[in-house]
Amino acid sequence: MHKILVTGGTGFIGSHTVVELYQAGYTPIIIDNLSNSSIRILDQIEKIIDYRPEFHQFDLCDEVAVKNFVANNPDISGAIHFAASKAVGESVLKPLKYYHNNFFSLINLLNAYQDTPINFVFSSSCTVYGQPDQLPVSESAPVKTAESPYGNTKQIAEEILQETAQAYDNYQIVSLRYFNPAGAHSSALIGELPIGVPQNLVPFITQTAIGKREKLTVFGGDYDTTDGSCVRDYIHVVDLAKAHVAAIQLLEKGNPAGRYDVFNIGTGIGYSVLEAIKAFEKTSGQQLNYEVGPRRDGDIVKVWGDVTKSAEKLGWKAELGIEEMMKSAWAWEKYIQQNPLVD
Ligand code: UD1
Repeated sequence: MHKILVTGGTGFIGSHTVVELYQAGYTPIIIDNLSNSSIRILDQIEKIIDYRPEFHQFDLCDEVAVKNFVANNPDISGAIHFAASKAVGESVLKPLKYYHNNFFSLINLLNAYQDTPINFVFSSSCTVYGQPDQLPVSESAPVKTAESPYGNTKQIAEEILQETAQAYDNYQIVSLRYFNPAGAHSSALIGELPIGVPQNLVPFITQTAIGKREKLTVFGGDYDTTDGSCVRDYIHVVDLAKAHVAAIQLLEKGNPAGRYDVFNIGTGIGYSVLEAIKAFEKTSGQQLNYEVGPRRDGDIVKVWGDVTKSAEKLGWKAELGIEEMMKSAWAWEKYIQQNPLVD
């Protein structure tokens, strides 16, 4: 049972990854400062896997705490680093918060492992491609100037990781570029827990359907797409979680491509906002109150991933489609209405 550190392990993607790691035979150990999640997620994880993962509450920006943790846990063989600030709009208003949190935590973690062999998986994003010139976008596409401080932290973090893996031979690193994570665990016991008004499409849809929000605004109906709304590659969070297990397994075998690599994690299929709404209405049986409104500043028009490399080299492929994402997100929304996990 290899021990795998999961930073941000009570968050949306982190919690699902903890479950998948455990079910694949690993022992996940969580560090989280609970700044954007709830300690009750640990109870929820325990309900699913009948095992309560070891949990440490501290901020990864605390260099001494990170060093002590690593020194006290010499048998950890892999680390999956989710913990980061991730709201695009907030990052524009508070860039220093984003540069501080996202870089200090990453560098503290890498520094703490400087003398230890470690398999390291990083949460990156398709945001690094900006609006790609070619679709589907592959990993070899150029990285575009970041649209936000959040996006910039992902781009620079990838550079830090690549240079670190080149310079020191104890690190083996994979960056996973996620497309648009959505959905929830099939048990409906864990899912996305947006604090405040959700910025992302799927939680906004489910919160509107349940009556927490009055109406969804579709940001723009006059784009150059099939129906005028923006197109994204939505990826089920359970598939995404499994991609992290596959990345750890690849690094354990030794990645033939070398000590640093990057993979797209999506389905390879693009859906427009209006198609996503239709998929929600079909699977939930609910009619959604929505209207097509003005464009959102900085939105990418259309992006979906070329997932050939992940299939061939990572041995991972998405299995669940948009309907499963919507169905599980809706089941989760109904669950948290009955069982609020955040006060
Ligand atoms: C955003 C970030 C991306 C980040 C990701 C994390 C931008 C430009 N990109 O992606 O860097 O990695 O979040 O989750 O912000 N939409 C509506 N109405 C809504 C909400 C969204 O129409 O109320 C539309 C958007 O215009 C977009 C799609 O839904 O076309 C998805 O939006 P969202 O969930 O915010 O994700 P991204 O913008 O793709």
